[in-house]
Amino acid sequence: MRLFSIFFLSMLVFASCNTRQKISDEEVLEKGAAISGKLLTALLSELTAEINENGVAEAINYCALEALPITHRISDEEGVVLSRVSHRFRNPLNAANEAELKLIENYTHLQQAGEPLSPVVVAGRGTKTFYSPIVLGAPLCLSCHGSSVEIDPRVMAVINERYPDDRAVDFNLGEVRGMFKVEFKD
Ligand code: HEC
Repeated sequence: MRLFSIFFLSMLVFASCNTRQKISDEEVLEKGAAISGKLLTALLSELTAEINENGVAEAINYCALEALPITHRISDEEGVVLSRVSHRFRNPLNAANEAELKLIENYTHLQQAGEPLSPVVVAGRGTKTFYSPIVLGAPLCLSCHGSSVEIDPRVMAVINERYPDDRAVDFNLGEVRGMFKVEFKD
């Protein structure tokens, strides 16, 4: 009888482990795109509102203070770990790791070959991570990430002061700038 209960209990535990919901790649792609879109919309609307109201030199201060808090707020709302990562980062907290550098390099090659850039899902231990490329798509981006000799000197002054190790200038329009990263529990 005792043996039977142990057997029965272990079957129950086994069954409950087995029924734990795993997230599918399709779901990661779908939710990852929606959450990255939410971050992009939030950042862009804040950025354009600030630029229109106070100009680029003020907007960059605002961006420096608010980009990460906005990102963290959306992470909490969505129950994921959300970030932007880059090979040529401005904020060292956004530096891409080794594996991410390879993904960015791959996106850059695809882009140079004129191939489409699609999001990917990377499975880890207990996680699935969504990555999608960020391309410098609008001339607006160049006012803070474009040629360092063309950027307004007041903007350059803020960049140099706030980000002594900045690597995020001298990008061209259309270049891969980094990736959205959304980490889900699996
Ligand atoms: C007003 C200046 C400004 C403009 C315009 C701007 N950025 Fe940024 N960008 C920043 C600052 C400042 C940071 C660092 C934010 C931080 O400290 O978290 C940043 C960070 C980033 C990052 C995160 C990786 C990193 O390097 O830290 C990406 C990706 C990025 N910008 C892409 C863009 C794109 C794409 C555009 C155009 C749609 C754009 N930026 C326009 C100022 C700007």
